[in-house]
Amino acid sequence: MASLVQLRDCQKVLNKSLPSPGPQAWKDQGLPLSTTSNEACKLFDASLTQYVTWSNEESLGGLEGCFSKMKAADPTFVMGHVIANGLALIGTGTSVALDPGLRLSMETMMELSRKQSLSEREKLHVAAVEMFAKGCLPKACTLWERILQDYPTDMLALKFSHDTYFYLGYQLQMRDSVARVFPHWAPSIPLSSYVKGIYSFGLMETNLYDQAERLAREALSADPTDAWSVHTMAHVYEMRAQVQDGLAFMQSSEPHWKDRDMLACHNYWHWALYLIEKGEHEAALTIYDQHIAPSLLATGSMLDMVDSCSMLYRLQMEGVHVGDRWQAVLPVTKPHSRDHILLFNDAHFLMSFLGAKDHGTVQELLSTLQDLGQSPGENHQHRLTREVGLPLCQALVEVENGNHDRAVDLLLPIRYRIIELGGSNAQRDVFNQLLVHAAVQCQQKCHRNLARSLLIERDALKPGSPLTARLIRKASSLHLME
Ligand SMILES: [Fe+2]
Repeated sequence: MASLVQLRDCQKVLNKSLPSPGPQAWKDQGLPLSTTSNEACKLFDASLTQYVTWSNEESLGGLEGCFSKMKAADPTFVMGHVIANGLALIGTGTSVALDPGLRLSMETMMELSRKQSLSEREKLHVAAVEMFAKGCLPKACTLWERILQDYPTDMLALKFSHDTYFYLGYQLQMRDSVARVFPHWAPSIPLSSYVKGIYSFGLMETNLYDQAERLAREALSADPTDAWSVHTMAHVYEMRAQVQDGLAFMQSSEPHWKDRDMLACHNYWHWALYLIEKGEHEAALTIYDQHIAPSLLATGSMLDMVDSCSMLYRLQMEGVHVGDRWQAVLPVTKPHSRDHILLFNDAHFLMSFLGAKDHGTVQELLSTLQDLGQSPGENHQHRLTREVGLPLCQALVEVENGNHDRAVDLLLPIRYRIIELGGSNAQRDVFNQLLVHAAVQCQQKCHRNLARSLLIERDALKPGSPLTARLIRKASSLHLME
């Protein structure tokens, strides 16, 4: 209970530091909003703050509550529509093709933007969200970057572009986009300490671990409840194979982030990754059962689905029997088998369909992906379907069927392109492990030699990894490492 009180106190301090967020305050910050409604501006600020801090302000009804109150306060407030539509899309759980309500909301935003004399910045925000909705993610980022060139403290453009670069696997852009605006974020600007956390994530994903750690620690000293900076630290320990340090860090910081509902589950996932690294599979399953599975069932969020599938699949590759856990995941993932919003998500859904032995849904996902690959249109993800997404998904099926040579033939040519499907280095390691496991179990001699090469490479990149050491022992037992 003490930790919950502490969390709330930190939040109060954070909120106190914010200036009055009415129309004049936004104008004073150089980011005017086209509305005369104080209430709408206040709720826009509350929405942006919750997005950046990964929090859910219950007194305002969370993000959804803020959006509906904001629309009630000023139905014509275009930036209110921009943040609501943008966040609905960036959650990657739905799209305008799947959700008539979102489609209508987008049309309303576009119509309002045509009727009003918006600022150039606001027009660019509308156009960027429109591009994202069409699946043209790189074009959306170009528009957000145009905003940031002139308005480097536009947090909404910074966060939307950051998250979209993440989906694109554009690691350098994810880092440099924040680097360009970072000097403009004076400590007095609201949410400035969170920019350190955002920047540190880009530094970490481009292997600049020392710089990433320094900034994340600075952000955490300003606000220990900054769950995104905790998350960056979790990645730094993961990438350096500092398993004991990572476990100690997660344990000591847990009171600060365990109630950050949107990111807490993912931070527990990172915690469990250390345990898988150590080979403490039962302890990893305990975290899964106590935190990850309950969060998945409660929220059905994309991140929770990806985390659940990734964790169970990694444990299975380690030879762990996960019991009937896949059966519990299936009802959450199955409704998304035909969505195809992100190929990265599709590959994770497929793990659950395979794990639950739902062959009909496996075929449904593959056949609808094949259809998509034949007429991808301008959607960036759909364009990657034929060359990257489908081979990856087919490889998962081949491994399930015991056709390891075939799986290697599918994975090897695309291994350096899987990054184009987005996600973090730590998340995509499940696919690296898939290739190693498939190669180790191959019949063909050339593929078995490949397993040896891949393990040498893995050991060089992440020295001291107990998981790699176990794989090397397994390969040695099969006479692959002589
Ligand atoms: Fe992560």
